Amino acid sequence: PSRQRLLVVANRLPVSAIRRGEDSWSLEMSAGGLVSALLGVKEFEARWIGWAGVNVPDEIGQKALTRALADKRCIPVFLDEEIVHQYYNGYCNNILWPLFHYLGLPQEDRLATTRSFQSQFAAYKKANQMFADVVNEHYEEGDVVWCHDYHLMFLPKCLKDYDSKMKVGWFLHTPFPSSEIHRTLPSRSELLRAVLAADLVGFHTYDYARHFVSACTRILGLEGTPEGVEDQGRLTRVAAFPIGIDSDRFIRGLEVPRVQDHIKELKERFAGRKVMLGVDRLDMIKGIPQKLLAFEKFLEENPTWREKVVLLQIAVPTRTDVPEYQKLTSQVHEIVGRINGRFGSLIAVPIHHLDRSLDFHALCALYAVTASDISFCPLFFFVSNLSRCSIVTSLRDGMNLVSYEFVACQDAKRGVLILSEFAGAAQSLGAGAILVNPWNITEVANSIAQALNMDSEEREKRHKHNFSHVTAHTAQEWAETFVSELNDTVVAAQLRT
Ligand code: UDP
Ligand code: G6P
Repeated sequence: PSRQRLLVVANRLPVSAIRRGEDSWSLEMSAGGLVSALLGVKEFEARWIGWAGVNVPDEIGQKALTRALADKRCIPVFLDEEIVHQYYNGYCNNILWPLFHYLGLPQEDRLATTRSFQSQFAAYKKANQMFADVVNEHYEEGDVVWCHDYHLMFLPKCLKDYDSKMKVGWFLHTPFPSSEIHRTLPSRSELLRAVLAADLVGFHTYDYARHFVSACTRILGLEGTPEGVEDQGRLTRVAAFPIGIDSDRFIRGLEVPRVQDHIKELKERFAGRKVMLGVDRLDMIKGIPQKLLAFEKFLEENPTWREKVVLLQIAVPTRTDVPEYQKLTSQVHEIVGRINGRFGSLIAVPIHHLDRSLDFHALCALYAVTASDISFCPLFFFVSNLSRCSIVTSLRDGMNLVSYEFVACQDAKRGVLILSEFAGAAQSLGAGAILVNPWNITEVANSIAQALNMDSEEREKRHKHNFSHVTAHTAQEWAETFVSELNDTVVAAQLRT
């Protein structure tokens, strides 16, 4: 049988473009959980529609980029600088993103944002319409159109306006906040109604789905049912579809010679020390300052560990035109500098902080090294394979795939995962990870000590639990479940009418 045709629509394409000449482009992988998960989706005849991350004002450039992207089954949506400023930097990343993650803006920004709200919202709708236009150009009857994330909440409505028979699903990769938070958005009702135009609406966790249904009942006065939300006899199906990763890709990745070489280098570089790892986009939601302060407290209280542990923090630059992100960068640098100044020696510093992204093989090696027995710690020499860990302190996070990837790379080594209870992943990896409240620095510092001192039996037990979850609930399965639920929902709706 021919494979289901799928149009995946997301603001961010899996590759971002860099201009090399008038008509030449190079493409590099985009970072982020949405892209990682969708790359693991293989069973469909899929095409991606989205923004390539650059402004291309001229026709020659647009044509050349369209050709370059076609090889990757990608179709570009061209957004000009002003739209990107108002829609992406403004409405998406300065308004929706902090709101959906329960993070307020500082007082001075709040007023400014209130003033620019209307023009940014108008740009948001305009951008969504531009995505819809491109989808419509490429749509063929029978296609499933799967819209992604908070950038495209208007898209289901725009698409159904084109063709009410189009099968449209929408999935949110962030949390959906309590209805009390959503209520504060000036555009609260319009956004909800636009999403409800979809046939199926999906979230990472049951809690997010419940918040969405409550927002629709309390703000729009619609009826919530176990199936979803009903409006004058029309049902929008709402459900939870927890995302996963392509775990095999990571497990296989560990065998690649390049990864093995990386691992060897890292082992030599950090010989004699336990490695703790953090991998995050440099985003407010990731709680990086909180993580650093907790690590500082740990060093303060555990002088014997000072020379024996290192925190490797990969902080991938992201949304660098948004002022809040610029402030965060300098804040983080200041804290890292202070802690290294305080606890560093002539030959070593306790925190290695990198403002950069890593390619897949380097990342695999890091995940693996964090778990491997690279060090010899005289205090505990009688315990083989001493503990080391990865630490995720998100203040809020839709799912957090980094925690899944770390688990997948533990192989025989059984590293410990310290995970924020406010990440969606806490609901699936909670039994194996040490769960923490990232706002409680004392608790996080204690959990670092617990992870570093954990005996191998307990690490084994915790790892097993998480590993079986991560390998059983993959990105592939996530996509298949969503798309088949979408097909079923459409059939059920046809039967009702
Ligand atoms: N990642 C990446 N390059 C890097 C570091 C990380 O592409 O240098 C990937 C990482 O493998 C993971 C994703 O970015 O798949 C981050 O996803 P997560 O869900 O943890 O957080 P998000 O960035 O989506 O908020
Ligand atoms: C999160 C969002 C994605 C986004 C990613 C990277 O995972 O849910 O939609 O693609 O962050 O952010 P960026 O703004 O660079 O696309």
